[in-house]
Amino acid sequence: MRLSKLPDVGTTIFTIMSRRARELGALNLGQGFPDYDIDPRLAALVAEAMRAGHNQYAPMEGLPELRERIALKVRACYAVSADPESEITVTLGATEAIYSAIQAAVGPGDEALAFDPAYDSYEPAVRLAGGRCVRIALTPPDFRYDWERVRAAINERTRLVLFNSPANPACSVASAADLDELAAVVRDRDILLLSDEVYEHVVFDGLRHHSVLAHPELRSRSFAVFSFGKTLHATGMRVGYCIAPRALTAELRKVHQFNTFSIATPLQRAIAAYLTEQPDGWRELTPFFAAKRDRLRAALAGSGFSLPPAQGTYFQLLGFGEFAPPDDLAFAERLLTEAGVATIPLSPFYAAPVRMPFLRLCIAKRDSTLDEATQRLTAFAARLRYGDGR
Ligand SMILES: Cc1ncc(COP(=O)(O)O)c(C=O)c1O
Repeated sequence: MRLSKLPDVGTTIFTIMSRRARELGALNLGQGFPDYDIDPRLAALVAEAMRAGHNQYAPMEGLPELRERIALKVRACYAVSADPESEITVTLGATEAIYSAIQAAVGPGDEALAFDPAYDSYEPAVRLAGGRCVRIALTPPDFRYDWERVRAAINERTRLVLFNSPANPACSVASAADLDELAAVVRDRDILLLSDEVYEHVVFDGLRHHSVLAHPELRSRSFAVFSFGKTLHATGMRVGYCIAPRALTAELRKVHQFNTFSIATPLQRAIAAYLTEQPDGWRELTPFFAAKRDRLRAALAGSGFSLPPAQGTYFQLLGFGEFAPPDDLAFAERLLTEAGVATIPLSPFYAAPVRMPFLRLCIAKRDSTLDEATQRLTAFAARLRYGDGR
């Protein structure tokens, strides 16, 4: 009997670091979730929906009123239309949208292209679909695309490109030119695109998020994936959605209906009502997280840690090349046990073994958490620089 379909896959680095942070009482800047409360109005709307009896199965594709609100939001953000009936599906977070889209698109012998450092759910989903994930590294420290390498990796087996902007954990944002390059790469080929846009509203320094939805050539072959966990600071609600052309949506729903079937009714009701009350709420996300990123960067300036550009997402990379060899697993362990700060090493996001001088910090934390963490990191850096006597 075959024991495992994913023999090399263990518990994710996020779960491991969060568990160890709890055990050690460390500050958790590792896993990407806010440590502050959600808007009490959203919590009230969830309770109201439950009290009003919205507690039975929702329609498989999502509540109509939520899909309507999503269509309005997409129009407001990207000036594009998406048909709630045939193009929008509510999913169990972006994670399920990614998984279901990959199962719908990839078959045995197919290849899917992903960019390292790649979000960790992509490759296992491709392999469970019988496909092979081909990984191309972005070029550090600013993690740009090498389109020559992408062109060289494409062949007649390539079925899907997994694209993520703003990118976790690279913190880079694809440009309009990148989307054009991508369109050129897949043009005249039977290749689909999965565009993971969960950080669509967290883009800094006057840059803009370029959604595939607003790129007509890419839109026609894309599953675009979004997360209310990220946009409502409520990662535990596990509600996301996928927007794709009618034919792709039909295939996605064939998987979705046997995967999660439908998503928690009271949560969908509440989110639809919340978006009706605050249709523009997403506009606050970039300034909110820009202030946190700037606070963290200012506090760490001069510490000896390097701070690569963070163009988007709610993360900031921390470079420790000044202090230690580029063994990120070992350095993350030291920060956890010696400085009391949990981070996420980057190497688990790579297919080939790499030695990275970078760790990922989550900035979606209370200012007091960020302040305490940066003090601990700065003090630890000083100990490394000057020895314990100082
Ligand atoms: C790039 C990326 N994609 C997808 C997800 C999953 O989103 P969700 O929590 O909505 O499942 C995350 C969550 O951290 C992410 O960072």
